[in-house]
Amino acid sequence: MKKVLVLDHGNGKMKLRSSLHKSTTPSLVAFKKDVGKSFTGDQLQVSEYETEMGQFVWGDDVSAVQAVYPTYGFQNRYKDTMYRTLTKIALATLAQKSYVQPHDEVVVVTGVPSNEVDTSAVTDLQAAFTGRHEVIVDGKPVHVNVVQTIVIPQPVGTVMSRYLDEDGFVAQDRYEDIRVGIIDIGTGTTDLDSINGLRREEHKSIAAGMKDVYQIIADYVNSENPNAKVEYYHIEPYFAEGIYKISERHSVNFEAVKMAAVFEVAEKIKTGIKNAWKTFDRFDEILLTGGGAKLFENAIRLLVEDVVVTADPQQDNAEGMYRYGAFVTMEE
Ligand SMILES: Nc1ncnc2c1ncn2[C@@H]1O[C@H](COP(=O)(O)OP(=O)(O)OP(=O)(O)O)[C@@H](O)[C@H]1O
Ligand SMILES: [Mg+2]
Repeated sequence: MKKVLVLDHGNGKMKLRSSLHKSTTPSLVAFKKDVGKSFTGDQLQVSEYETEMGQFVWGDDVSAVQAVYPTYGFQNRYKDTMYRTLTKIALATLAQKSYVQPHDEVVVVTGVPSNEVDTSAVTDLQAAFTGRHEVIVDGKPVHVNVVQTIVIPQPVGTVMSRYLDEDGFVAQDRYEDIRVGIIDIGTGTTDLDSINGLRREEHKSIAAGMKDVYQIIADYVNSENPNAKVEYYHIEPYFAEGIYKISERHSVNFEAVKMAAVFEVAEKIKTGIKNAWKTFDRFDEILLTGGGAKLFENAIRLLVEDVVVTADPQQDNAEGMYRYGAFVTMEE
């Protein structure tokens, strides 16, 4: 029986899923040498990795390392060294947490935004994943033998999370016949897709997402305290609380700009949806997904009253990829 490992490498978050593991971790990677001397791996929630490219750390607290490398979307990112490094260490992490053995045959399922489906991105990703990988994770070697890499459009993942059940069997066959509109509010972009009978139709991308909210706040924090030197990804851990902690003694309360930032980005997203879709009547169902879904739900509802927020918005693309992987490997 082949083992299915899913990686959904977003601009902001890496989503992992297997039969035994599910997690969301920043799409940021750091060199081990940049972990400050005052920190040990025990204090920061990060693991240490050794690949042929060097020694790295990655984990929930990676954004606290002084110098971090975002793998934020840019052209040809699938060939980029840091992008590939994060791909490899995330794969090893998921394999380790899923008790994958060196002789196990692994099928990787991953996703790309719709606009990259017919590009070299797909072959680049397949080249990055397929084959044997060895990564030392916290001192222990992890071997992963990837025999097949399936790349699906992210919005198809969203629909699969509803069409199939966890074992890959059809749960709601109505998706074979209906047209679904998908609004995926991610870190960097908001992607709009139309999926008709499980097939992709039109795609539009709006250049607005959670990053824009965090960036407005980061600019404010930096203007209040130029020594803070915060980037957008530093804001996220403090977003809910509304106070950015520079040190034990200094913090910047950004509650005042938070609502304005959310409002501004919500309007950008709403305008983008109106321009892209004009009317909504052709859709049988409109789904709202992505990490920004819950934050913007009320704003989107003013536009599309009966929009459906998916079960676990940030994880649902990965969930659908996993279910699709279960379906494909079951047939074999
Ligand atoms: N409940 C929540 N409230 C507010 N923000 C949230 C919540 N859950 C997740 N987020 C934020 O949503 C953002 C987008 O998450 P998501 O994982 O969908 O983006 P991504 O897939 O990495 O980005 P992209 O789709 O642009 O590649 C993250 O920056 C995360 O901080
Ligand atoms: Mg995404």
